[in-house]
Amino acid sequence: MAKYTVVTMPGDGIGNQVLPEALKVLRAVGFDAEYVHADIGWECWRNEGNALPERTIELLRKHRLGLFGAITSKPKKAADAELKPELRGKGYQYFSPIVSMRQLFGLDICLRPCIGFPGNPLNFIRKRPDGGYEEPEVDVVVFRQNTEGLYAGVEWTNPPEEVRAALATHKKFAPFANMPGEDLAVSVRIITRPAARRICTAAFEYAKKFGYKGVTICEKPNVLRETSGMMEDAAKEVAKNYPGIALWSTNIDAQTMWLTKNPEDYGVIVASNLFGDVISDAFAGLVGGLGFAASGNIGAEVAVFEPTHGSAPKYAELDPPIVNPIAMILSAAMLLDHVGEREKANRMRKAIAAVIAEGKVRSYDMLRLPGGADAIKLGAASTTQMTEAILAKM
Ligand code: NAI
Ligand code: MG
Repeated sequence: MAKYTVVTMPGDGIGNQVLPEALKVLRAVGFDAEYVHADIGWECWRNEGNALPERTIELLRKHRLGLFGAITSKPKKAADAELKPELRGKGYQYFSPIVSMRQLFGLDICLRPCIGFPGNPLNFIRKRPDGGYEEPEVDVVVFRQNTEGLYAGVEWTNPPEEVRAALATHKKFAPFANMPGEDLAVSVRIITRPAARRICTAAFEYAKKFGYKGVTICEKPNVLRETSGMMEDAAKEVAKNYPGIALWSTNIDAQTMWLTKNPEDYGVIVASNLFGDVISDAFAGLVGGLGFAASGNIGAEVAVFEPTHGSAPKYAELDPPIVNPIAMILSAAMLLDHVGEREKANRMRKAIAAVIAEGKVRSYDMLRLPGGADAIKLGAASTTQMTEAILAKM
């Protein structure tokens, strides 16, 4: 029997193209695992009225380790219209299976490394005062709280009377008190101290383990005094247990400005859900964007690793496929890190780095080509060719 069992959830669109590529690399690196397929995504919604079927939940509960491709999701009207006729009008409601998975298994730590590979033509460059250019070394790892904050899902248009009455007890609600319900939308930003402590502790632990000099808490406590205030308090409290590691504090708005000014100054960043979502995408853009952006959703028991990109339906039908498998393969490497197989994970990343540095094999995004069937003719490597180049380096 294999040492690990990994639940593989390719999902929709290009998820089905990139996930098998990651499995090829995991097999080649000698990861002692077996893989069980699980359904997730739009087809499950259409045919079953549930994008995250119970059987998939069961498999994750049992094996605790997931590798996920991407899913398609569509606005409410399209979701209802595409539901199988027999299921329509029966009260089925679409929920994002990723958000459901995070909430169900308490995957409250989202880990997003944004680390540049030397030689990647998509890396951010900056103009020097003398007119030349320089490429700052970006080595940032974002810890995003994954289950609370503005994405907790507590929201209304036309909030019920009890909610309005509760809001009216706050004096700052006065300007909104007479707004007709259908013109009033409210999303609640919820932060809890235990979750704030957990995400901050995860960030500091990581900084300690991998030798980062500091952790930056990126919030907005001067305005969001309660919620961002609680995040910052938690960071300060946790920091006391890590005397060798500095705690810096930035505001999310200023941080996005400094992003391109001095990205090399940042290491580990910790933030609540929405701010972490924003800042991790922003840093990912400096190191190649969606073709390179990997992530982990980590809970106390279950962990699921996935590229940040979606199902890219435009490209899902291309034969051969052209999308970059690196984000998915890096996600698989994060899974290896998570189970303590660091040497194998590093071997995978080294092989990717070697392919990028050599510059002979480049996917269409790396060549800045418009994605389409022509990309291959214009010199882009196919999805499979990119994987083969990586395998060859291993
Ligand atoms: P997307 O990430 O699927 O694609 C946006 C664009 O990014 C693509 O058109 C392509 O140009 C580029 N891209 C994405 N992955 C790439 C790769 N591996 N290599 C090279 N280029 C790549 O986002 P979009 O188009 O906004 O959404 C499409 C569907 O995916 C929607 O239904 C959306 O809801 C869903 N989605 C799912 C996510 C997930 O499963 N985690 C995340 C984001 C969107
Ligand atoms: Mg995002």
